[in-house]
Amino acid sequence: MNVPNHVAIIMDGNGRWATKRGLKRSAGHLEGSKTLEKLAIHAQDMGVKVLSVYAFSCDNFKRDPEEVTYLMNLIVKYFNTKFEKIAKRGIKVLVSGRKTNLRPDVLEAIKNIEEKTKNNDKGILNICFNYGGQEEIIDASINLAKDINNGLDITTFTREDFYKYLYHDLPPIDLLIRTGGELRISNFMLYEMSYSEFYFTNTYFPDFNKSEFNKALFIYQNRDRRFGGLNASKNN
Ligand code: IPE
Ligand code: IPE
Ligand code: MG
Repeated sequence: MNVPNHVAIIMDGNGRWATKRGLKRSAGHLEGSKTLEKLAIHAQDMGVKVLSVYAFSCDNFKRDPEEVTYLMNLIVKYFNTKFEKIAKRGIKVLVSGRKTNLRPDVLEAIKNIEEKTKNNDKGILNICFNYGGQEEIIDASINLAKDINNGLDITTFTREDFYKYLYHDLPPIDLLIRTGGELRISNFMLYEMSYSEFYFTNTYFPDFNKSEFNKALFIYQNRDRRFGGLNASKNN
């Protein structure tokens, strides 16, 4: 089976999932966090090495303060208490995003979970939090500029080399999934998705269960990835 090495998910539709049930939007975020916990383990079972998820964008600060506070509290609670199953599975948790504008307890929770799982080597869960794809490219470029100022020779600098300047040096995304029905990228991992296959579904994230995930893996297997070249077996 041709399993994608790196899967990324734009976990969208939590709010609508809740509203449809007459619940507050926060109920959708709570349900979504439970879905994420199950999916992280399932992805590992299916052979996916890296799972990146969009949990909070830089632009999500535009929302009501009440919703922002709820999401901040949720990440602290999850990192401090609910990520044991993931840690026990040998999954390393990484957090990508800007560390500015975050509360001290949120920063502390991020530090703790990264520290606690740093020696794990059975898979990676990369949580994008206070994250923006353009921001990541800007931050990487600033760090690269510093190295150039310090004498780095860039005459042979490649697009692979640029990965080392991103928040974490992860492999390119093979499969990008967006739940919730919108057909856009919303400033997610722009650099890493240059050749990824896209899978969009109307399913709201809290309902995106194992079989929905498997459906995306199945569709991926039938895609013809050419990376700008030709696929010899299919183009004769
Ligand atoms: C995604 O769900 C989670 C976050 C952005 C934090 P939304 O909150 O965007 O849910 P919808 O799109 O409003 O339904
Ligand atoms: C993208 O969803 C961000 C996350 C899933 C965390 P949004 O709901 O914020 O995106 P837009 O506003 O629909 O583009
Ligand atoms: Mg949304």
